[in-house]
Amino acid sequence: MLVKWKVPKMSNDPRDAEIAELKERIRRLEDMLTESQSLIAVGELAGTTAHEFNNILTLTINYAKMGLRRTDNETREKAFNKILDASNKAAKIIGVVLGLARNRKPGKERTDLCKLLEDVLLLLERELAKYRITVERKLEDTQLVLANGNQIQQVLVNLLINARQASPKGGRLVVRLRPCKDSPHYAEVVIRDYGVGIPKEKLPKIFDSFYSTKQGPDETGKGGSGLGLALCKRIIEEHSGKIKVESAVGKGTAFTIRLPIAQTEKEKEQ
Ligand SMILES: Nc1ncnc2c1ncn2[C@@H]1O[C@H](COP(=O)(O)OP(=O)(O)O)[C@@H](O)[C@H]1O
Ligand SMILES: [Mg+2]
Repeated sequence: MLVKWKVPKMSNDPRDAEIAELKERIRRLEDMLTESQSLIAVGELAGTTAHEFNNILTLTINYAKMGLRRTDNETREKAFNKILDASNKAAKIIGVVLGLARNRKPGKERTDLCKLLEDVLLLLERELAKYRITVERKLEDTQLVLANGNQIQQVLVNLLINARQASPKGGRLVVRLRPCKDSPHYAEVVIRDYGVGIPKEKLPKIFDSFYSTKQGPDETGKGGSGLGLALCKRIIEEHSGKIKVESAVGKGTAFTIRLPIAQTEKEKEQ
């Protein structure tokens, strides 16, 4: 009997090998880009933290001086309470930063999205307030997701900074966390701003690397590279999740990310 083997089609076109090599090079460059973006995020974090600490120290020093100058009990008690509040805040911030520094592992683990959002908002609190942005938190209970906390934190920071930059007059920002309506296996985070919005024809481009409508980094050194959303997409897809955008010019923009719920040990066994 004659057996016909299906021989895979080999291309003789030298351009095919060249294209394959270029694709591989792009993939490697994208990996390097993700890594350098992650370092930039660490730098930004260090800047924000130093700024926060400076403010907390100024406050503490001023209230300590006030307590020394004024000897009545009422003023001293007020001074002590202010110093205690400021020190507690400093401890909280340093707790978040240390947590992030410890958690630079590449793998994914069971992660509490609510805590992650609270941490990110704590770190960006002052910056958002400076640009007169108020954050409405609508955080529902969800199950833990399977995620690399650092990478998801980077995604959230990128989306929040974009939202802040799209709201030049300040305004409202809604941060929502909820179980995904149409799939019980996912949790959903929505970051919604009421800023300038994105024209329809630009929507398909915003996730492309180097696509930016900004003139360059702003006075805090953020934005303008066109790499933020490309990185967000890459990270979310690497988590087997989804990212989508809805926007209307003059009305604002909502980014939604979905991440898979982590299976419990029991579910894994089944
Ligand atoms: N929340 C938003 N509102 C309006 N436009 C946005 C928003 N987020 C992103 N964009 C648009 O998408 C572009 C790409 O965003 P991004 O990849 O983060 O790059 P960059 O912030 O460096 O410009 C931005 O330049 C902006 O035009
Ligand atoms: Mg950006």
